[in-house]
Amino acid sequence: MSNRAQELEKGRERKSTRAKEKKQRRLEERAAMDAVFAKVEAANKLEDPLAAFPVFKKYDRNGLNLHIECKRVSSLASSTVEWAFELTRANMQNLYEQSEWGWKEREKKEEMKDERAWYLLASDADSVPIAFSHFRFDVDYDVQLESRVRRKGLGKFLIQILQLIANSTQMRKVMLTVFKHNHGAYQFFREALQFEIDDTSPSMSGCCGDDCTYEILNRRTKFGEAAGHGHSGGHCGGCCH
Ligand SMILES: CC(C)(COP(=O)(O)OP(=O)(O)OC[C@H]1O[C@@H](n2cnc3c(N)ncnc32)[C@H](O)[C@@H]1OP(=O)(O)O)[C@@H](O)C(=O)NCCC(=O)NCCS
Repeated sequence: MSNRAQELEKGRERKSTRAKEKKQRRLEERAAMDAVFAKVEAANKLEDPLAAFPVFKKYDRNGLNLHIECKRVSSLASSTVEWAFELTRANMQNLYEQSEWGWKEREKKEEMKDERAWYLLASDADSVPIAFSHFRFDVDYDVQLESRVRRKGLGKFLIQILQLIANSTQMRKVMLTVFKHNHGAYQFFREALQFEIDDTSPSMSGCCGDDCTYEILNRRTKFGEAAGHGHSGGHCGGCCH
């Protein structure tokens, strides 16, 4: 074979190896995504994500004696979902209005009633709901407490439960969005609970940097630690939007 023909032959081999590697990568990525979807689907099929953790079903501290349950939205009374919406409005409307999003009542209601929504609900001895965290096994959640039960460790306890559920369902991280001007909540998540700024947060991705009124935060589960710092894949969490 002439030198020219040998070079052409080598070039063809290199191309075919590259094409094979690309195809292999695509197959691996698809398999990884399928595994993530399977975990999200399995988590969504759970009857009670707290069943394995009975000690977390009550909160008996700092003068509070509460019962905690974890339910999908379809199992909640409509009056409870309405209460959750009204509490969110009372706690958050002003903060939303100071942000670039504004307060969008219809969208918020739809999000809170979406069939994928799950609720961690704390109720008193008379079964009156007092605090909740709204989450999904894919992206977002909310945590809202009536003002009279704040600074008694309940918020921290609810987030600990979310972290526990995220670990037990093999999610990679708990994720949430917090307004920077919600100073108390910001301190609560960043300092007290040691949440990190997520790679997708505007201040990290550089999309609107300091002008943005919010940050996206996360806390990794043991599955997130193992997967490194890529942010594809299942996560359990959210808050504020
Ligand atoms: C933010 C919120 C969930 C915190 O829950 P909580 O039960 O009051 O908080 P905890 O008692 O568990 O607080 C744990 C620690 O977080 C920090 N923290 C909590 N609230 C804080 C506040 N308002 N200012 C400063 N630090 C705060 C403190 O270090 C606190 O420990 P300490 O009380 O021993 O000092 C609750 O205040 C709330 O529902 N706020 C209104 C709705 C809201 O803003 N939700 C967050 C949306 S992103």
